[in-house]
Amino acid sequence: ACGAGDGSAGGSKGAAGDKIVMGFAQVGAESGWRTANTKSVRESARTAGIELKFSDAQQKQENQIKAIRSYIQQKVDVIAFSPVVETGWDAVLLEAKRAKIPVILTDRAIDSTDTSLYKTFLGSDFVEEGRKAGKWLAGTASGPVNVAELQGTTGAAPAIDRQKGFKEAIAQKPDIKIVASQSGDFTRAGGKQVMEALLRSHPDIDVVYAHNDDMGLGAIEAIKAAGKKPGTDIKIITVDAVKAGMQALADGEINYIVECNPLLGDQLMDLAKKVVKGESVPERVVTEETTFTTEQAKKVLKDRKY
Ligand code: AHR
Repeated sequence: ACGAGDGSAGGSKGAAGDKIVMGFAQVGAESGWRTANTKSVRESARTAGIELKFSDAQQKQENQIKAIRSYIQQKVDVIAFSPVVETGWDAVLLEAKRAKIPVILTDRAIDSTDTSLYKTFLGSDFVEEGRKAGKWLAGTASGPVNVAELQGTTGAAPAIDRQKGFKEAIAQKPDIKIVASQSGDFTRAGGKQVMEALLRSHPDIDVVYAHNDDMGLGAIEAIKAAGKKPGTDIKIITVDAVKAGMQALADGEINYIVECNPLLGDQLMDLAKKVVKGESVPERVVTEETTFTTEQAKKVLKDRKY
């Protein structure tokens, strides 16, 4: 747990009439997951009475760094951000630390040895998500299986970790081979484009493992255009479980989805209030998540909020 008092704006912030100001540097609007995450953050800030300064980095690290610098200049009470990529944050986070503005990592982690640069990290266990995807495949596959992996943004924590967990889980089955692995940048257009090329270079693909629903949905379009049946001729595994993904799963075009929960807003605002007051918070808050088969998707689809 992080110590009380150090580096926080402290004082009477959060008391009536003295609104906490949060600077939030979002990754972008690349996916259905991200849209749901942004909505959750905005709504929860409103409910918690926190003034939110919001910026969209359009998936570019330099934009996020600029946004964080501007929040430091504006002397916000707390900065929260979801880092586009894992590395390259130490300099700007040191500036925040020197300005005594606490930082919360949300959704994605950074790769830094200096853990004093942030108070806590709220988000999913992406390695575990990859493991769940790999375990399902290892449990259902028989005989040789050629996998095409559609990776998320190069250098992003979920892309690195979802690959790691998946590889770990399929290691026990040497018949399962990743024959191609390329980034589709977590977008539907990216997934479609990469899949079109992969279908030409690897006509023997049996399974697509997409690091998110959007890329999986893009792959479905490419597979159909190539005259094949997604979910049948080529099985598809994705991560997220946003509504469009769950619909495709219910329709049998996706075969399995590992959930990644974007509704982090309420927990984020609770943590923000605590760090601003100088209270201690856990170093790591992990989101609870599940998995879905076609049958399960059919049952929950109508109540799916995002
Ligand atoms: O960091 C979470 C990931 O980012 C989601 O799984 C993906 O859809 C998003 O773009």
